[in-house]
Amino acid sequence: MAMTINIEPLSPVLGASIQGIDLRNPVDLDSQELLYQTFINHSVLCFPGQELTAKDQLRFANLFGRGDGGDRVKRRDNKQRRTGERGMMYVSNIRENGQLIGVLPDGEMMFHSDGAHRESPYRATTLYAIKIPSRGGNTLFSNLYAAYEALPQSTKDKIENLVTRVVYDYEAVDRADTIAADPVLPRAQHKLVKTHPDSGRKTLYLSRLMTQDIIDIEPSEGEELLLELFDHSEKPEFVYSHEWRVDDLIIWDNRCTNHARTDFPPDEQRMLRRYTVSEPEAPTQF
Ligand code: SIN
Repeated sequence: MAMTINIEPLSPVLGASIQGIDLRNPVDLDSQELLYQTFINHSVLCFPGQELTAKDQLRFANLFGRGDGGDRVKRRDNKQRRTGERGMMYVSNIRENGQLIGVLPDGEMMFHSDGAHRESPYRATTLYAIKIPSRGGNTLFSNLYAAYEALPQSTKDKIENLVTRVVYDYEAVDRADTIAADPVLPRAQHKLVKTHPDSGRKTLYLSRLMTQDIIDIEPSEGEELLLELFDHSEKPEFVYSHEWRVDDLIIWDNRCTNHARTDFPPDEQRMLRRYTVSEPEAPTQF
């Protein structure tokens, strides 16, 4: 029997909730096209109530580009941070024998976009909820198309051709850590205003956690402008807060959204499985 895929908005800001598809099975070509177009139109898709193995999640990631199938967990040490491999990770605060089983372990995280410190950032990220605390640990998504479109024309003109430097340290959870980041960590340069290759819409491309500075302008002027744009892009009218339920699978578009995380009780377990999606031609390392 043919599947009926049901698409409902997640919020007025962005996102769609998708029901009527069982992602344990391969997805037919028509449904793949529908899902990709819905992803482009809504930027964040949530598939509640999926019971997925890692293999199912990677197959899903591959519907949206090149799913990064390497295993970063076993090699998660300082060396791995610097070689910048792409692959599967757990986002978790769980410790086994005193060792974290994943990354991005505890508490609140500032807005960021995955892989923006690379020349070729991740197209998308998929996150699958395995253990969720009783409160908090929401993922916030901000709509950077809407934030760009709401800027005054004078600001749009001012930032149109600016270029930023972006850095990420896997231990950084706030801007002070980013600014102090080890100089050997990889940095990329990106346009502050980008045109999304699939939608053709203009979007801001910056985040409080990862954008270090704007090149070729006076540093204090650049910092003032960045702080103004961070505040603007994080206004509640551009942000959707996702309260996770176990078995939610979410995919988001890193090219036109930022995400952040709210605090959660440190004595409760949180565990999500993350596969990123790269541009098909992107290198597998920096
Ligand atoms: C992430 O930043 O990739 C993880 C977000 C989260 O833990 O909610």
